[in-house]
Amino acid sequence: MTIFNLGSINADLFYRVPHLPGPGETLAATAFSRGLGGKGANMSVAAARAAARCVHVGAVGADGRWAVERLTEYGVDTRHIVTLDEATGHAIIAVDEGGENAIILHPGANRALSETHLAAALAEARDGDTFLFQNETNMQREGAERASARGMRVAYAAAPFDAAAVQSVLPLLDLLVLNAVEAAQLQAATGLAPEALPVRDVVVTLGAEGCRWHNTDSGESRDFPAPKVEPVDTTGAGDTFTGYLLAGLDRGMPMPQAISQAIRAAAIMVTRQGTADVIPDLKDVQDLSL
Ligand code: RIB
Ligand code: NA
Repeated sequence: MTIFNLGSINADLFYRVPHLPGPGETLAATAFSRGLGGKGANMSVAAARAAARCVHVGAVGADGRWAVERLTEYGVDTRHIVTLDEATGHAIIAVDEGGENAIILHPGANRALSETHLAAALAEARDGDTFLFQNETNMQREGAERASARGMRVAYAAAPFDAAAVQSVLPLLDLLVLNAVEAAQLQAATGLAPEALPVRDVVVTLGAEGCRWHNTDSGESRDFPAPKVEPVDTTGAGDTFTGYLLAGLDRGMPMPQAISQAIRAAAIMVTRQGTADVIPDLKDVQDLSL
């Protein structure tokens, strides 16, 4: 099966700082690095590292061909990434000594996708393939509608959080991935706790605490612990979790097994500085003991 990931592609500019800056503060970074990122690209790379076939549907500007080349090198199918007359998306990422981050995002080409482009990509999809998306592009609702009509598994990571965007796709979803903050925001907007959402599977990630899976069919919730790690940079850990989770499901794993693998991949990611370029491969994930 194949994962079609409607996803952002960014240049990530990392600034290591003593603490996250406050209003009016000027702060000198102690280190700088640059890499491939974007929640979408991170998920595609994670899915590819987890041995899934992943078609990335997205856009860059003329200054972003390096990003497409890198995705290809990482095993992602890049035939449906277009080059538009816009700037490539980029993110300014401050990371503090505890590995926590604050991100400023410039979406650029990521928000200039057309329905024609999306339709051409999804025309290749077959029954049982997965459609994955998050909130850093446009065309989410259109994509979810087309994917659902084609009998695809529709999976959504509601980040960065946008209550209206989540509510507009909620009835179309098979799987929703949220972090604890997003789950609380969604509950504030809809009055519904994660286990009461009209989605078959809801996974709430809890950082160092692991995650909780709610299954509407059985009415059951189950907790999964995370391995203990020393955080270096939490950036991209959630995306790695989602990419690995969907890859596991796409390859026929039962949910608990796919979640366990995804949690381990995310735990390793937290110990690494960077995003798409440092997502662990399947062997590293399998070698990590809980
Ligand atoms: O989730 C991490 C990602 O958020 C980074 O790669 C950055 O590009 C932003 O989109
Ligand atoms: Na990281």
